[in-house]
Amino acid sequence: MRAVDIIIKKRDGLELTKEGINFFIKGLSSGDIPDYQVSSWAMAVLLNGMTEQETTDLTIAMADSGETLDLSEIAPIVVDKHSTGGVGDKTSLVVAPIVASCGLPVGKMSGRGLGFSGGTIDKMESIPGYRVDLSQSEFMDQLKKLNIVLTGQSADLAPADGKLYALRDVTGTVPSLPLIASSIMSKKIAAGAHAIVLDVKLGNGAFMTNLDDAEQLANMMVAIGKLSGRNVRAVLSDMNQPLGEAVGNAIELREAIDTLNGKGPDDFREHCLVIASHMLELGEKAESLEAARTLAEKMIIDGTALKKFRELIIAQKGDVSYVDVPEKLPKANISHAVKAQSRGSISQIHARTVGETAVDLGAGRAKKTDPIDPAVGILVHKKVGDRVNEGEAVFTILSNDEEKVAPAVKRLQSALKISKDSVDPLPLFYGVIA
Ligand code: URA
Repeated sequence: MRAVDIIIKKRDGLELTKEGINFFIKGLSSGDIPDYQVSSWAMAVLLNGMTEQETTDLTIAMADSGETLDLSEIAPIVVDKHSTGGVGDKTSLVVAPIVASCGLPVGKMSGRGLGFSGGTIDKMESIPGYRVDLSQSEFMDQLKKLNIVLTGQSADLAPADGKLYALRDVTGTVPSLPLIASSIMSKKIAAGAHAIVLDVKLGNGAFMTNLDDAEQLANMMVAIGKLSGRNVRAVLSDMNQPLGEAVGNAIELREAIDTLNGKGPDDFREHCLVIASHMLELGEKAESLEAARTLAEKMIIDGTALKKFRELIIAQKGDVSYVDVPEKLPKANISHAVKAQSRGSISQIHARTVGETAVDLGAGRAKKTDPIDPAVGILVHKKVGDRVNEGEAVFTILSNDEEKVAPAVKRLQSALKISKDSVDPLPLFYGVIA
């Protein structure tokens, strides 16, 4: 078999065999197939797509390219969740402790921020000492003992995806449905969970900008999950405006702690309760979504979920006093309000622009190696559909660099649209695919 023949086959729109895909992923992993051939193949896939069978074969080949965890010894069902990425999305920080405190183990490996979208691991690192590099045996031990792990993606799991993703990132081949679906699912399958809830975001602050693409991606991932023996459910959720109020790292962590304390913004709290309910139902801890929701609410109201979050922080060597006194979390020196320039109803808070502005302030990275500033970010005080008066603060910029404030004000003003007519709020969810 030759790599060039596989590239030509895909270039001509033909279906690859399982053997061909396995050969290609093996060659990519070993380095026998050079980057230029992998990149060319990725572009052919982006242009010509893949069938469900090809996508599944690719996913399994990437999942098998490294170690795979067997979590059966932990419990009959271990649950995981994955968000396709968004702005202000700190859901894992709240749902993992809720679900774990219901007796359902949650073993989660998360990523760092990617482009304009934030990453769970960067947020957790706002707590001094918190370890995001657990070994596999530490992962298993903690999951057994506490029912909860929130650590970084292990490089030993699905390493072929790591290599392919790095090439896609610099060759314009990220936005391909089969490549995204196989990338996400290969990591989830290798990480061993039996039940997986996928939070598939759609809107201008997500990889999938419209409902059609999001549904296709969700269907693809659910089908791959089924073919590989996992119970997968996808929830389609809105990412046209930031989720919750905080966009940054320490401020998002603080919002998550507030939410675990029974406070927090309404949209974020609702989002967390819905995702947690799906996890609990899929994990057979509740017989219906309604029952699951009641259980999830109880875990917040009686403080059990917050207690579980504290246990998580202590187990991963974070300073838990930052959870007890969130005011201790890093704070930016400059706080600058961005005000509405007219009176009316908010018709747009462009999530992607808000995310990009937060990255420019230092909350994300321009290059993989850039450091991030945990203290900076943006508070978004309004939602689409809300009424505002002229001069009322819509955003607060939190910065450690005076020079970054004026450009951030300009960008946030461009993210905001105010209508004279009344505007309907955006939905939080668009459907469920199982
Ligand atoms: N997240 C991933 O893990 N992979 C992709 O391709 C896109 C988002």
